[in-house]
Amino acid sequence: MNNTTISSPGKLMLFGEHAVVYGKPCIVTAVDQRLTIHASILDEPIFKLHAPDVEINNSSKLLTHIGEGDLPNGAKFVEIAAKNFIEKYPHAIPEKKGISFETETQFKSTFGFGSSSASAVCTIKALSELFNPEMTEKDIFDLAYKTVLDIQGVGSGFDLAAAIYGRTLYFLTGGKKIESLIIKKLPLIIGYTGIKADTATIVKEVKVRFENKQTELNQIYDSIEKIVEQGKQAFQDNDLKKLGELMNQNQTLLEQLGVSTNKLSSMINASRNAGAYGAKLSGAGGGDCMIALAPENKRSQVEKAIENAGGKVLKVEVNAKGVN
Ligand code: MEV
Repeated sequence: MNNTTISSPGKLMLFGEHAVVYGKPCIVTAVDQRLTIHASILDEPIFKLHAPDVEINNSSKLLTHIGEGDLPNGAKFVEIAAKNFIEKYPHAIPEKKGISFETETQFKSTFGFGSSSASAVCTIKALSELFNPEMTEKDIFDLAYKTVLDIQGVGSGFDLAAAIYGRTLYFLTGGKKIESLIIKKLPLIIGYTGIKADTATIVKEVKVRFENKQTELNQIYDSIEKIVEQGKQAFQDNDLKKLGELMNQNQTLLEQLGVSTNKLSSMINASRNAGAYGAKLSGAGGGDCMIALAPENKRSQVEKAIENAGGKVLKVEVNAKGVN
């Protein structure tokens, strides 16, 4: 095989953000907006990257210099993922051969759907297909997780699990537990704030905010953990009303963490007033997206309310399939 095309889904956090960074579980669903990588083997030992959506146009360097220098943001996750693969499997790529990657995405990197994580997963999966087909899904997860930690310093890895395994997952920090949940119906409405949030910055801000209030912070994380466990049960019972209540409770705790914003709160309140079972921010906070769960007969009212509050409704399917 000389080339391969790999795609993986984006993600939306349903319950448990922030607490999952510190050893608690979360629930995440994969969305059918996919990032695709075309990878091919080159006959010279170079690393080539073309990622027009993040303004990387045909960049190229010697494979021996991979990961070196000040990497542009858009290139980082593909390049460091490839570097980690080469370091872990130093004999996998034959001498005098190189690799070329070209990325394509169905969603904007600003939505917070996890385009960076999806690109790390696609890169490693592509390299595995081309050079080391023995890698398991967990091997791919572990190498992608190392990549995220190398670049961001913090993160639970939940987004990588969504990109690899797809569907809806109960996930524990660092992939200590990854369980698929059976989802019968998940009538989610997704509202984009129009504001790009930086996860690593927000995670660090929470840490600083609670520097002298560790007990309070731990209590919030314990309460979030309880919500995640109840959410898991509510998914099993297909109890949408309960899921909505839990989303509202989770949102209150995220507000206590200080990660919600006026824009997020007004979109969330608007969707509740328009008949949603519940609503919350999804992800780190500070911007990105909110999610609302609503009965089908209230969908269009909730969508309108979100738009009237200044949000943009994104039409995406959830519970999508993983890397393929
Ligand atoms: C960000 O989408 C979710 C966080 O929990 C970070 C993470 O889990 O890596 C804030």
